[in-house]
Amino acid sequence: MPVKDFEEEKPKGLQKIPSGIPGLDEPMGGGFVKGHSTLLCGPPGAGKTTFAFQFLCEGAKMGEPGAYISFDEEQGKLIPMMLQFGWDIEGLQKKDLLRIQKVGALEIQQFASQESILLIEIIRSIGAKRVVVDSLTTYELLFKVDYERMLYIKRLIDEIVGRGCTMLATSEAPPGKLSRFEIAEFIFDTVISLDFSKQTKTGRSLEIVKNRGSPHKLGPLPFEISKNGVSVPPR
Ligand SMILES: Nc1ncnc2c1ncn2[C@@H]1O[C@H](COP(=O)(O)OP(=O)(O)OP(=O)(O)O)[C@@H](O)[C@H]1O
Ligand SMILES: [Mg+2]
Repeated sequence: MPVKDFEEEKPKGLQKIPSGIPGLDEPMGGGFVKGHSTLLCGPPGAGKTTFAFQFLCEGAKMGEPGAYISFDEEQGKLIPMMLQFGWDIEGLQKKDLLRIQKVGALEIQQFASQESILLIEIIRSIGAKRVVVDSLTTYELLFKVDYERMLYIKRLIDEIVGRGCTMLATSEAPPGKLSRFEIAEFIFDTVISLDFSKQTKTGRSLEIVKNRGSPHKLGPLPFEISKNGVSVPPR
């Protein structure tokens, strides 16, 4: 019988953890809910990868290892992109506080299998507490029908959060939509949408669309991307 390393104990009440995005925890009702799944939606260039990396770096700063599972970006391009924000990627990797795993087209199939060996190995290797999947859209494209897509999104979330991790997945959002297939936003616990905006000084706006089990601010909030990464300026 395979040995499961699912967490036995159910947390009492909802624990909050810092998102790593300055100014975002307060409108989220105190931060991300520990052990929940968040879908981060947005068009190309909205800041999804930067936000996701910042979420991992925040965990790493507190000694919580994080895994970045990339279904898209080349590792070679990603690291220089993230280094400009001043994050000590190499140092964190050396201390096993960060693992960046590029998953190729053929290997993505494996993530759809129950007890995916690769996924379990990634999580176990560093004892990950935060896991990013960038992007879920690539995974969703594997499936032919919506029913299958829904089932396997749920399975991927269960495999990650069932191992005691807080999950953040990115979603490539076509205009007017949160995700390409309009399924994932109903499955994830929390949905945050990043977008461009003509109404804000920063030219960008963020919306907490839903946050299961936690109060949150409604409506768009201006946010910016600067040399320090993503932040929500004080209002
Ligand atoms: N130092 C910086 N200062 C201000 N903005 C920056 C800086 N570095 C990157 N950006 C902005 O961040 C954007 C890229 O963000 P990111 O790669 O996180 O977006 P994404 O939503 O993941 O995009 P994609 O869907 O293409 O993967 C750039 O297009 C640029 O507008
Ligand atoms: Mg990206």
